[in-house]
Amino acid sequence: KALRQAVIAGNWKMNKNRAEAAELINALKPIAADKTCGVIICVPYTNLETALELTKGTNIKVGAENCHFKKSGAFTGEISADMLKEMGVEYVIIGHSERRQYFAETDLTVNRRTKAALSAGLKVILCVGEMLAEREDGITEDVVELQTVAAFTGISAEDAKNVIIAYEPVWAIGTGKTATADQAEEVCGFIRKVVANKYGKEIADGMTIQYGGSMNEKNCAELLAKEDIDGGLIGGASLVAEKFGVLLAEA
Ligand code: G3P
Repeated sequence: KALRQAVIAGNWKMNKNRAEAAELINALKPIAADKTCGVIICVPYTNLETALELTKGTNIKVGAENCHFKKSGAFTGEISADMLKEMGVEYVIIGHSERRQYFAETDLTVNRRTKAALSAGLKVILCVGEMLAEREDGITEDVVELQTVAAFTGISAEDAKNVIIAYEPVWAIGTGKTATADQAEEVCGFIRKVVANKYGKEIADGMTIQYGGSMNEKNCAELLAKEDIDGGLIGGASLVAEKFGVLLAEA
């Protein structure tokens, strides 16, 4: 853990108009300024320009919430990794469970998007995590292993260094039901082993593995204290500067 910088990333999802985004970012800037963890905000496409402008010269990095895997072409409504890179965006979330559940995202498309993002020079926050029924069936590890291995198919060790993994158990997202620190630690540690099997111990030990799922200002300390949890991917609590600030202070 000592080798890795904790990273707290906000995932705003489909929230905040331009004025609200500006207000939140302006409130966050002084709060984030003296923090030692990595700070990322992943915002809707329509807020990227505002976010990039307002965070210039600060320690807050900007990410998008998805990208398409093709470089360009007849894909109405889509945004390519190159388009994001050209704007100055640094990160992109890939494979969030909401994309998997509601937008037909599969392990194959997650892999294609991850490859496209990395080859465009973006850093990826790759999301994996089991559904409630899968946890109850005792196949959590099988599910996250499959998702992780699939996502990294055909990706070099060098490129893998530009990936953060976010373990987000689907049953904990937006439900107020957090995985216990032990549950989260167990799976994050397991994911690190899966990465080690593919890329070796050094890359696995250097990889940031976050927890996500109802992580907030109240429960973050216990989760962040765990050896294999290197920060968090935060939904609801990233929409309020003071709450997000507590997470940044704990990380
Ligand atoms: O990507 C973050 C996420 O899905 C967790 O959302 O609202 O439960 O913190 P939330």
